[in-house]
Amino acid sequence: MNSPRPPLLNLERSMKHPPQPSEAFGDGRSALDVQRSAAPVLQATALRKSYRSGDRMIEVLRGAALTVAPGESVGIRGESGSGKTTLLNLLAGLDASEDGEIGWADARITGLSHNALAGRRARFLGMVFQAYYLIPEIDALANVLMARRMLGLVDTAERDRAWTLLVRVGLAERTHHLPSQLSGGECQRVAIARALMNQPRVILADEPTGNLDEHTGDAVIDVLLGTCAEHGAALVLVTHNPQHAAKCDRRLLLHDGVLKEV
Ligand SMILES: Nc1ncnc2c1ncn2[C@@H]1O[C@H](COP(=O)(O)OP(=O)(O)OP(=O)(O)O)[C@@H](O)[C@H]1O
Ligand SMILES: [Mg+2]
Repeated sequence: MNSPRPPLLNLERSMKHPPQPSEAFGDGRSALDVQRSAAPVLQATALRKSYRSGDRMIEVLRGAALTVAPGESVGIRGESGSGKTTLLNLLAGLDASEDGEIGWADARITGLSHNALAGRRARFLGMVFQAYYLIPEIDALANVLMARRMLGLVDTAERDRAWTLLVRVGLAERTHHLPSQLSGGECQRVAIARALMNQPRVILADEPTGNLDEHTGDAVIDVLLGTCAEHGAALVLVTHNPQHAAKCDRRLLLHDGVLKEV
């Protein structure tokens, strides 16, 4: 049975004026309290997803629900196989749930066609994966610009933005390096810059430090959290690392197919 449609309200105002972390409010509320009281930028209700394994079905998600406020960071942990990547794929509209609904800002995406979703996704979401997925034949700057090429022309303003993002993630000296000429941590920084290129409202990151050593992973998480905050993007961070989850505004655990606050 389908669940009721979630209340997805217009977020234009809150995204144009995202609350700053250092802001203090006279009525005793923190900037984060104010963020959370805004309409959600990402919302999922009662998500169900099963996979067939031989002659039986494995129920991976059994009513998972998630609400993310504009600019908020949410860390999701869960055992291997608990369904974290499955959940992110649904949130990104890359796969369809059997039940439940997903909303991106004020738009319900459930039921939209693959083609209708593709353009919206490129504007609304940035994604960062464990394996980076950079294009090996083109340099760091061109990889960042690739996100923008999917939406149309790339001109001076776009090149400037890509360059500025690479500088921000600490790669000013590496803009013309091919991925094969970059370390793992540097590749992931390029992927973060690419994810932010189209000024997304949400970044979904699936174990972004999974291939990195501890020190490099810590630095990449700091860059990811810092850049998302500066650009007003909400972050959903899937991680096995409790310290990385602890750096997020809110922490959730995916267990038995549902998300719980921890
Ligand atoms: N396309 C598929 N077909 C069949 N089973 C699948 C498929 N994708 C995922 N599964 C199964 O669904 C379960 C959840 O997988 P998922 O990749 O979402 O887990 P995860 O929490 O991301 O794990 P990890 O931490 O290891 O990345 C697993 O048991 C997996 O084997
Ligand atoms: Mg996974």
